[in-house]
Amino acid sequence: MKQSPLFLLFLVSVLFLWSCEAKKTPKSTPMVEVAQDPHSFANRHEVAVTHLNWKAELNFEKQIIRATAGLSLERIQDVKSLILDTRSLLIEAVEDQNGSTLDFSLGEEKEFLGQALNISLLEESDTVYVTYKTMQGADALQWLQVQQTADKTHPFLFTQSQAILARTWIPIQDGPGMRFTYEAEVSVPQGMMALMSAENPTELSENGVYNFQMKQAIPAYLMALAVGNIQFESVGDRTGVYAEPSVLKKAVYEFSEMDQMLAAAEKLYGKYAWERYDLIVLPPSFPFGGMENPRLTFATPTILAGDRSLTSLVAHELAHSWSGNLVTNATWNDFWLNEGFTVYFERRIMEEVYGREYSEMLALLGYQDLKHTIEEFSDSPEDTKLKLKLDGRNPDDGMSDIAYEKGYVFLRFLEETVGRENFDNFLNGYFTKHAFKVMTTEDFKSYLSENLLAKDTTWVKSDDLEEWMYGAGLPDYAPQAQSDKFEKVEAKLELWTSGTPAADLGEMDWTSHEWLHFVRKIPAGISSDQLADLDAAFGFTQSGNSEVLAAWFQHTIRSNYEPAFATLDSFLTNVGRRKFLTPTYSAMKESGQILIAREIYSKARGNYHSVATNTIDELLGLNQP
Ligand code: BES
Ligand code: ZN
Repeated sequence: MKQSPLFLLFLVSVLFLWSCEAKKTPKSTPMVEVAQDPHSFANRHEVAVTHLNWKAELNFEKQIIRATAGLSLERIQDVKSLILDTRSLLIEAVEDQNGSTLDFSLGEEKEFLGQALNISLLEESDTVYVTYKTMQGADALQWLQVQQTADKTHPFLFTQSQAILARTWIPIQDGPGMRFTYEAEVSVPQGMMALMSAENPTELSENGVYNFQMKQAIPAYLMALAVGNIQFESVGDRTGVYAEPSVLKKAVYEFSEMDQMLAAAEKLYGKYAWERYDLIVLPPSFPFGGMENPRLTFATPTILAGDRSLTSLVAHELAHSWSGNLVTNATWNDFWLNEGFTVYFERRIMEEVYGREYSEMLALLGYQDLKHTIEEFSDSPEDTKLKLKLDGRNPDDGMSDIAYEKGYVFLRFLEETVGRENFDNFLNGYFTKHAFKVMTTEDFKSYLSENLLAKDTTWVKSDDLEEWMYGAGLPDYAPQAQSDKFEKVEAKLELWTSGTPAADLGEMDWTSHEWLHFVRKIPAGISSDQLADLDAAFGFTQSGNSEVLAAWFQHTIRSNYEPAFATLDSFLTNVGRRKFLTPTYSAMKESGQILIAREIYSKARGNYHSVATNTIDELLGLNQP
């Protein structure tokens, strides 16, 4: 087909102008092609929800939310119906902007996915209002009784929407590739503060009504709400901390370096797109370490070590403001694009703020986790690939350290191959060019090949690239971090295993990462007496560092070390962070203590979020509904 040069020039200019325009508005771009999301019912290729207007009332007695979700639509094709994702929602009514009642039906219930809500649109319907109630036990929501909070004065509610739980509290197009802006009006009991992944208040509202705005388009998994007896304190110009009053001071001390982290991140990969960066410390039942809800990271109190030693988690969630929240994995099969990039970015921030020695220790600890996970998955090598195949599965089941740590090692490999300067320039361009868009593994591969690897074809063979993204396990040439400090730790441990009592090991003026390395490297199968020797010298059972304590329990459980029983019991009862629960309950199960594990679990279960109980129910063979 021949075209005149003038026509081609015209076409190129139009395309260029269009792309400039697209860059200016950080809004959703419904015309962009959407990958088919295996975990969503939404007919997003036909119609896009571009804005959510959420009006909600919270009932703490009944533990339900009653709400109206106003959804602004942009029709992409000639479409007669809007299909939304829902799970355990009671739909009361659906109307459009003219008050016309719209017919709707709920599809068949599918495991993890819930039900499609099919709404018949009138020709003129451009906004749809769904009035509904959440049900008790909605998976994203954790309603805490007064007794389950730090201050024990008010109840608490928090949400966890990633990966596909937003649909249990909002009827929405619930896929990471589907973005919308939002505003909300939330009514809560007087004396409580409500916060969202949006512009947030810093003071209590007198009548309990809060208004929110999120001007940048986000996917549903970043919808978040926390309500409780919460106070705010500023940390830096653009950063601050929210927590229950009794936790606030400790939290402000712990996270006092947030502004420096933010500055370091911007220096690396460009301007922060979300204006403020605040963090809320949630009650201990929060099932994750952190969750990158835009403008307001949700965090576990288990990182309040008192010495700022676990703040790489803040760097991690902050880094998601670029990798994940700006450039988003198209489907959960591309999860490594969110997490692998974020771990890489997190360690670069930590290197910038605390130095290379520090970030190398983090990288080595991560490498140990990776090796461990690859071994654990020896029967399912498919799950050790970066590109996942989660179709037909609960995405939560396939999301593991692989995405994080193998993703990191791959990016480190690229950095070391092409040189840091080239790699940083490339990443800067990547974040700018794809801001507020989605990314698939395939698109990343092409973008990487064209914009970085094409500069020097000797850098990475195309088979190797293929192997990193689609192969199982870890290539034998994968780069590894180096740490002299960890080598010294290992030398001390060797002294101890060859007979020197712990008290005589000499100076050990270590950071908590060195201690963590020490505890992890204690050989398996040692006696209770030997553990007692270590405990007497170093006080591991009393450690205020949750990472060290959880690693220590691996040994105390397997060696039946009685002096740690009470601490273990209270740790499992109070802490709901799944990363600690899974290996701890597993160790009990593997060492013949399943009955004790079940007993502790039966009293602790009420303190855990559904994300954690789903995993632990299965682990302990309790198939509760
Ligand atoms: N986005 C994740 C948490 C997540 C992942 C929730 C998958 C639901 C499904 C968050 O950024 C994260 O990675 N948190 C980590 C901490 C981090 C320092 C590795 C965690 O919670 O342990
Ligand atoms: Zn993450």
